[in-house]
Parts: sequence; structure tokens; C-alpha cells
Amino acid sequence: RHLHSQPQSHGPPPPPFGIAFDIDGVLLRGESPIGASQQALRRLYNHSGELAIPYVFLTNGGGFRESERALELSKLLGVHVSPLQVLQGHTPFKQLVSRFENELVVAVGKGEPAAVMSEYGFKNVLSIDEYASYFDGIDPLAHYKTWITRKAANRSTLEGMTTRDDVCSQRVQAAFIVSDSVDWSRDIQVLCDILRTGGLPGREIGHQPELYFANDDLAYQASFPSERLGMGAFRIALESIFNSIHPRALQYTCFGKPNPFVFNNAEAVLKQLVSSLYHKAGHGNDRTHHFRRLYMIGDNPSVDIRGARQAGNPWFSILTRTGVFKGTDNHAEFPADMVVNTVEDAVDFILKKEC
Ligand code: G3P
Ligand code: MG
Repeated sequence: RHLHSQPQSHGPPPPPFGIAFDIDGVLLRGESPIGASQQALRRLYNHSGELAIPYVFLTNGGGFRESERALELSKLLGVHVSPLQVLQGHTPFKQLVSRFENELVVAVGKGEPAAVMSEYGFKNVLSIDEYASYFDGIDPLAHYKTWITRKAANRSTLEGMTTRDDVCSQRVQAAFIVSDSVDWSRDIQVLCDILRTGGLPGREIGHQPELYFANDDLAYQASFPSERLGMGAFRIALESIFNSIHPRALQYTCFGKPNPFVFNNAEAVLKQLVSSLYHKAGHGNDRTHHFRRLYMIGDNPSVDIRGARQAGNPWFSILTRTGVFKGTDNHAEFPADMVVNTVEDAVDFILKKEC
């Protein structure tokens, strides 16, 4: 059940369409598949379990390496997912490697944010858990947080930085919010320390290091009946506190949907996918494949639908009612090209129209 190349000289030509699936609120809520989302995905594979329709997961979520996320999604959704198909909010952070390759950077969020950044090529990256553990008293509430003790034991050994002094005396050049912050109070405190002091907590005020967010989602669906606060909410909290204690406004960059470059990148990856599926069948090579239509199936009007609309042709947006959007009609501010109840309805529509 892999991304097999079609046999030489026969087999159908590559489809002129592809699909980008949002994850939270479309396919999953927490770890549970929504409705018949597993069956909907299965329709994109042939009888031998090989991928027949090019599709990617285009999520603003993250916290784990794309290879690990592919394994997890394969398990939760019951289909074989390749790491190439997993585009997470933080995936574009790899474009910043050349700028920070050997600089000390701090990675924030649930899961394994430092492992994600190391995989992208960052050589001097510490999770904020580990970084904070080198500064005595940096979080005055730490001893009320019993889970912190486990983290301190989990130290990495960075090249040339083996002692507390090495870490504390080296300037942090950038902070990356890779996934949702687990401990807002500690993370806001430590980020304010890093950002106000030019990357040297406890020292004088200095030039603000770079700050990057993997997404700016105010809310997302998750498993609870009403929406949960997302990274955008954390950004507002950090920004408003920073701006209250610092004379210069916080500078930052947000990645993820709805930025048009995320959709352009998804199109490029879908072309790569077509190339890996069909390149031996003599149907033209890799990046030259032309998609007549690309479908974005999402649940969040201001993120998924807005992004697909901004990206323009060949994107066609489909809004489901299984997540953030629960309205009866279309969304007023960011109307989708089509509104359906579930992802099964969306896949059904696409396959009827295209096949
Ligand atoms: O934390 C995840 C959330 O912000 C969005 O996930 O899959 O709906 O883009 P998704
Ligand atoms: Mg979603």
C-alpha cells in the first residue's frame, strides 16, 4: 500500500485534479475519525490499495515530524499515508534553516517541537521546556506544575553546549512556535524574557529576536463540543502582554493557512506526488503536470476557505459543517464555492464531477 509508480507504457494518465484535506474538524476530532471519513479517503485508492487520486493533508496543526504524523494518520484513518502527503503548519519553517542553521533557536509547543526543527536541519535548537530548565526561578510557578520534573531529565546535548552556562550565555536568535503551547504562563513569561533582552533572559533590554508562528488560528474544533483556543489566541495573549511591558510593539511572522504560499506549496507537492505515481508511465514528467482543479476541503471559513479563495485558480473550496463552521447557509464573509455536511459528501461530489 505504497505510492507505487504505474507500470511502464500503460495505465491511466494522471488525474487533472487533486485534493487538499484539512484535518481537524474535517477528518478527525482529537483522535477520532469524523463520521465516515475513513471510507471517504479509501475511495482515493485503487483495489490494490495504491493511491489513485493525488491528495495531501493540509493542516495548521503539528508538533511531530512529518514522518511520524504520516504513521499516526495511517493508523487513525486506515489508509497508507506517505510523509510527502503531510503538510503541517510548521512545515515551511524548513525554509529558514539557512538563516538560523547554527544559531541558538528555541522551539515551543506540544509534542516534540525540537525534534521537528532538528529534522528540518536546525543544529542548535532547544525546546522551551529544556531551555527554561537551565534558568533557576525563571518560572515562579514551576513547583506547582508537577509535570515539569519529568521534562528536566530529558535533556539534549547540543554541539558545543554542554553546561548551563553555555546555554544561558548564548543569545537566542529566534523563537519558533511550532505547535500549541502547553503551558501558556511559563511560555509567555520565558518568551517575553527572550524577546525583550535580545535573547539573553535576565539581562538588559536588547533588540528583539525573530519570532515565528506556525499558524494564527484563533480557534479549532478538537473533541470538545465548542471550539478550543488555538495558536492565534496564544499569539494575542503574548502580543498584548509583551506590548504592555515593552516600549516597542512585538514583531512576528505567522505561517500556515490562509497564507497563499501554503496553497502554492500544496500544489507543488501534489505535482511531486503525481510525478512519483506516474513518472514511469510515460505521462510527462514531474512538476510539469497541469491541474485543472484543486479542491480544498476545510471546516474553518476564515482559514481554509479564505486561503483557497486568495490562492485563486485552480483552487475550489468546499466547506464542511463538521468543525468550526456549523451554519446552515454559506459563510457570509468567506463564502466557499460549495458547502456540504461532511467530508464524504465532498469526496462524493468531487469524484462524480471528475471521474
Ligand atoms: O491545532 C490545530 C488547528 O489549529 C488546526 O488544524 O487541521 O484544522 O488545520 P487543522
Ligand atoms: Mg480544521
